[in-house]
Amino acid sequence: MRFDVLTLFPEMFSGYLGQSLLKRAIDRGLVDVRVHNLRDWSQGRHQQVDDRPFGGGPGMVMMVGPVVEAVEQICRDDVTPARLVLLTPQGRRLRQPVVEELSGGPRLVLVCGRYEGFDQRVVDLLQPDEISIGDYVLNGGEVAAMVVIDAVMRLVPHVLGHAESSVDDSFSSGNRLLECAQYTRPRDYRGLTVPEVLLSGDHEAIAQWRAAQSRARTRQRRADLLEGEVGPT
Ligand code: ADE
Repeated sequence: MRFDVLTLFPEMFSGYLGQSLLKRAIDRGLVDVRVHNLRDWSQGRHQQVDDRPFGGGPGMVMMVGPVVEAVEQICRDDVTPARLVLLTPQGRRLRQPVVEELSGGPRLVLVCGRYEGFDQRVVDLLQPDEISIGDYVLNGGEVAAMVVIDAVMRLVPHVLGHAESSVDDSFSSGNRLLECAQYTRPRDYRGLTVPEVLLSGDHEAIAQWRAAQSRARTRQRRADLLEGEVGPT
């Protein structure tokens, strides 16, 4: 799967792309992430990509020209059809079903905003899928784009090994339960011990204990998931 990211701060992605599961997926050719600097499509001598809002008011607005032209060029760049995502607190909320939907195609183009947002004509012309990662305002869409990439790449075939399979992940379709408590060595830490059943070797009993734990935890923390309704984040 290919991801193209358009941002004014490409350096923000270098640490993230060089780590862990994502790096392994990139090295194995399962995921391709290209980060583009929106300033490369800026206009004029001053490499301007933002300007004051018409009608006055605080802050700066991302200009329509650089964003639209960057998206058009990047989409043309490869015949792989792309789905365009704009990261904005005004978008629809990212949840696991949305992640599953985004992972369904071969390519995502993610546009990160800064300042007071985009000129409305970016949205009017490009008609992107506007996505918010939650009801809070970030300094820009970069961290939100990383969240989208992180969640989507887990669903790309072969990215996760069998042991890490996403099928049982909380919130995935068919599983609306939180994970149960997990333990590893040591068996006793400051008097807090691992539940006996997990040491018993009785796989049936362990599975039952875990299922009961998951249900109890979900009921306690996220009862909305058991009712099948969309709940708080
Ligand atoms: N940009 C700023 N805040 C954001 C949010 N909550 N989600 C997505 N993009 C954003």
